[in-house]
Amino acid sequence: MSQASVIGIIGGQGWMGRSLGLALLEQDIVPARQLVISSRTGSGDPYRDWPEVRCVQDNRELVELADVIVLSVRPQEFDGVDIDAGDKLVISLLAMASCQEVARRVASRRVVRAMPNAAAEIRRAYFPWFATPPVTDAERRLVQALLASCGTARELPDERDLDFLTALSGAGPAYPALLAQSMLGHARQRGIADDIALEAVMQTLVGGSLLLEKLDADPGDMVQRLIAYEGTTAAGLRAMLDGGFDEVVHHGLDAAHRAATSSR
Ligand SMILES: NC(=O)c1ccc[n+]([C@@H]2O[C@H](COP(=O)([O-])OP(=O)(O)OC[C@H]3O[C@@H](n4cnc5c(N)ncnc54)[C@H](OP(=O)(O)O)[C@@H]3O)[C@@H](O)[C@H]2O)c1
Repeated sequence: MSQASVIGIIGGQGWMGRSLGLALLEQDIVPARQLVISSRTGSGDPYRDWPEVRCVQDNRELVELADVIVLSVRPQEFDGVDIDAGDKLVISLLAMASCQEVARRVASRRVVRAMPNAAAEIRRAYFPWFATPPVTDAERRLVQALLASCGTARELPDERDLDFLTALSGAGPAYPALLAQSMLGHARQRGIADDIALEAVMQTLVGGSLLLEKLDADPGDMVQRLIAYEGTTAAGLRAMLDGGFDEVVHHGLDAAHRAATSSR
């Protein structure tokens, strides 16, 4: 197993599939002639700049051509993927499908389960993954290289961690968007013009996140530092924490976690 392997992406024209496929091509991790993608309708053509990419409609043909098979259809579309992977390495991006279930349905013991998020589109995804024991060290290195094309990839020691991260990082922009929506609504209620409110909220969330990333420290330290500073922000933080901010966030993550495991 090497980077000369042919990679086949089932659902390779969809949101996640094309983010991964295009990231692999743009960063020269996989040459176009070694990429095969499938979709039922073949609609759209995100690979038009790489004519050597093979696009097929028959997943069995993809399985024949590929050494590594990436499953990137929606969970509710999994039933329509009727393949026998013949023990080839299969990387599943599906939420709500365990390694055991994927292994059974694609006839391979060599399964990696990975959880992207929508920031793969801008190559800033957090992409944790878990491999079943038969996956070799060389295959694990290949998986890490493939998934890191979309952002930060991280092998996990326990599949249960992936269930929780499905709820957390798998949500991608969802929770920042919820916070932005709430701040925006409040700014508008307070009479701030729409365009200024949007600009202020976006720059606060994006600038604040970039600063936290640059500091590379526990964000809780920043919260404590700002509370200790005793400025206006301290009043806001205290009121939010006293009002049950942690409980609301934990309650939401628990609900998403339950949904991520509900089919098992
Ligand atoms: N989007 C996210 O933010 C996100 C985050 C975390 C995890 N995921 C996971 O990523 C996976 C893909 O999601 P997505 O958002 O990329 O979905 P999507 O945009 O709907 O893409 C799914 C693709 O699968 C193709 N497809 C469906 N059935 C097929 C079949 N039998 N054979 C070949 N192709 C088939 C569809 O094309 P045709 O209709 O032409 O066949 C479509 O292009 C999901 O399992 C999801 O749980 C997504």
